[in-house]
Amino acid sequence: MIDLRSDTVTRPTEAMLESMREATFGDDSRDGDETVKKLEAMAAERTGKQAGAFMPSGTMANLVAMLTHAQRGGEVLLEDGSHTLNSELGGIGGIAGLFYRGIPGRRGAMNLDALREAIRPVTRYHMGTTLVWMENTHNRAGGAVLPLMHMRKVYGLAHDNGVPVHLDGARIFNAAISLGVPPSEIAQYSDSVCFCVSKGLSAPVGSILCGSREFIERARAYRRMVGGNLRQAGPLAAAGIVALETMVDRLVEDHQTAKRLAEGLNRVEPSLCEPKEVETNLVRVDVRKSGRRAAQWSVELKTNGVLVAAADIYVLRFVTHRHISAPDVDAAVSVFGELWKKL
Ligand SMILES: Cc1ncc(COP(=O)(O)O)c(C=O)c1O
Repeated sequence: MIDLRSDTVTRPTEAMLESMREATFGDDSRDGDETVKKLEAMAAERTGKQAGAFMPSGTMANLVAMLTHAQRGGEVLLEDGSHTLNSELGGIGGIAGLFYRGIPGRRGAMNLDALREAIRPVTRYHMGTTLVWMENTHNRAGGAVLPLMHMRKVYGLAHDNGVPVHLDGARIFNAAISLGVPPSEIAQYSDSVCFCVSKGLSAPVGSILCGSREFIERARAYRRMVGGNLRQAGPLAAAGIVALETMVDRLVEDHQTAKRLAEGLNRVEPSLCEPKEVETNLVRVDVRKSGRRAAQWSVELKTNGVLVAAADIYVLRFVTHRHISAPDVDAAVSVFGELWKKL
């Protein structure tokens, strides 16, 4: 099977498994654990923040960020297609007790005029905007990278109105590689940021939420509240450390295979995808012209040895990662091409 469903399918490397065996077994929520502390310090350093807290998932890191930043009843502004709005099951309202407003965007970047108009102060009729949210890279926008200038403007706009900014940087290292800057240059336009070591970086589990020392101390309490205390988390953190040390630079290979995939599919049928829009490791493929739904395509592709996810009614999502080589991509394109010919 050529598994292009997600970069979360990546398996730990031998070096990760070795480091997990050797890791410390301190109780992270009692006396602390040395390996977890080391990962948190590395994460803080990479993102240019004062401190970090290890979380079991990106979803929980985002949820804890909301709880820590925003008071119940306040409003969060985030791009319409953001992962948090579309794929995190309403934790924003159901658990954090926040209102939210989706802001229209292009390739994951919020329309600045719409954002400006949406930011509201506290009045007797309204609890006010309590948080502005960005996502980089942007999942539903096909791994699009937010331009730094855009991020700077969003951050400035929010801060001019006294509103903090959170960055969902689940794949911030893909953005950093694509922009050719360290992740701290991206995260400077946020008050808090989270990223995942469990995706393209190949660790089995884990995300780290980073921010100021004071913010992270409060975030630890919310993490406990939502059941995110991991106790002997050393082995998980150990894999995360190896991920940060050895897996970041190779992400460029995933971007290259994604581009190759997009070029191949574009040769099959130009309306499927635009290779120029592929900036990182995600490729959204529009199958509308086939008259078949994405779910049907994913079943047929699976029968032919290619696993992909249906991201929308007529959109498939292909994700490249460490276990996908150029020949795998060519094979997937060829399977797709054969199926297309039979339409
Ligand atoms: C942008 C973004 N944020 C958050 C998440 C959630 O991460 P997790 O699956 O670890 O909860 C994902 C997962 O794909 C994501 O793409």
